[in-house]
Amino acid sequence: MVSLIPQPHPRERRVIFENISRPGWSNDIDTYVAHGGYEQLRKALGMQPQEIVDAVKAANLRGRGGAGFPCGIKWSFIKRDDGKPHYIVVNGDESEPGTFKDRYILHNDPHQLVEGVLIAAWALNVKLAYIYIRCEFPHAAKIVWNAIKEAKARGFVGKNILGSGFDCDIYVHQGAAAYICGEETSLIESLEGKRPYPRIKPPYFPAVLGLYMSPTIVNNVETLCHVVHILRMGPEEYSKMGTPGDGGTRTMCVSGDVMRPGYYELPAGAVTLGELINDVCGGLRPGRKLKAVIPGGSSAKVMRADEVYKIKGADGVEKEIPMLDVRMDAATLASVGTMVGSGGVMVMDDSRDMVWALNNLNQFYAHESCGQCTPCREGSLWMSKVTTRIMAGEGVASDPANLKTIADNIAGRTVCAFGEACSWPTQSFLAKFPEEFAAAASGGK
Ligand SMILES: Cc1cc2nc3c(=O)[nH]c(=O)nc-3n(C[C@H](O)[C@H](O)[C@H](O)COP(=O)(O)O)c2cc1C
Repeated sequence: MVSLIPQPHPRERRVIFENISRPGWSNDIDTYVAHGGYEQLRKALGMQPQEIVDAVKAANLRGRGGAGFPCGIKWSFIKRDDGKPHYIVVNGDESEPGTFKDRYILHNDPHQLVEGVLIAAWALNVKLAYIYIRCEFPHAAKIVWNAIKEAKARGFVGKNILGSGFDCDIYVHQGAAAYICGEETSLIESLEGKRPYPRIKPPYFPAVLGLYMSPTIVNNVETLCHVVHILRMGPEEYSKMGTPGDGGTRTMCVSGDVMRPGYYELPAGAVTLGELINDVCGGLRPGRKLKAVIPGGSSAKVMRADEVYKIKGADGVEKEIPMLDVRMDAATLASVGTMVGSGGVMVMDDSRDMVWALNNLNQFYAHESCGQCTPCREGSLWMSKVTTRIMAGEGVASDPANLKTIADNIAGRTVCAFGEACSWPTQSFLAKFPEEFAAAASGGK
């Protein structure tokens, strides 16, 4: 029997994908339990809830949904004994272009997620958890429902879990196909059966006023899977896999112009961009040169291959680092003005037209803006119209400056971070590839 993904590259460390890599792996409960599944739930139920929150904090686990917020800190906003109902909502919307890891987990190792949800539920005094799955993943929804049913039949879900006296039910909720439903407050509105307009923060931080106006933790699918391994390995060993501020491994979905695109799992910060592309992913296509990389899903700012960044080392001294030597961890990517985001690494070689690439992204964002905030609704559409016109050979010399003005007037002026998500591609593509935009806008297409 072959495993579902190729054997790991020597630089990989598979934790989340360990089961999926086993030859003959199946997503049923027998296989999961035969490989130690639900043992961490058993262990968790014997621990004090606060010990679990502290372990997640000590592990330096950052959310894998995009924003990278420290998970243990988020969990500590929930006051376990405040007498209110608490909820966990799993974000399985996975709509960020370039990111396709959560679907893979949902399809192939749903019990890993269910176990993570249950551990979090015990830690946070949650009796009801929802797994929100985008409607384009109907197969994933069926698989996860089945996993919950199997877990219930074995006493892992429902009343008096494993004889502990703790009750928790889990439901799957299918979304209605909108990128905005990945934004946590919009997801909550959608779950409540409403139009998914993001809520204003403050006051509607989910941990305070979330689902049904109750304290709610929204976590990404992958984030909750990591919790199982924090308990299994212990926070110290787990965090050591990554960097001091970014513990554990990160799953990466590499797409675009590399010889071996696909799923990889690497300790956070273990490789540079160059090592990821040239070593782990087998390099570029023959005869091609690297042009650009979007390191963390389409909302992350693009990096140009011939760029040199000034980065402060651990000794506090600033060094010049070529783009290919930038490390793939949250702090380093943030220090060069982009982000590790949701792990969607898009590689573009010198055959790619950056105006075309931006237009592609602009069309996506214009289609997906929920329309609640005027700068985003109007601006995303306007940016898409301008890049579409440039691609049709009808650009004018003022288009790049005009695009920049529009983008600058969206970011920071909207209820949710979709405003930034749709502005950053335009801002960064224009800043990094001005010559291509100037040529295209003056009739170069
Ligand atoms: C426009 C937009 C789309 C988002 N889409 C997703 C998504 O598909 N999946 C996800 O986990 N987080 C997404 N997020 C981030 C969530 O709002 C939230 O930060 C995340 O689910 C929290 O989980 P984490 O702390 O485990 O990362 C999105 C954010 C924005 C602004």
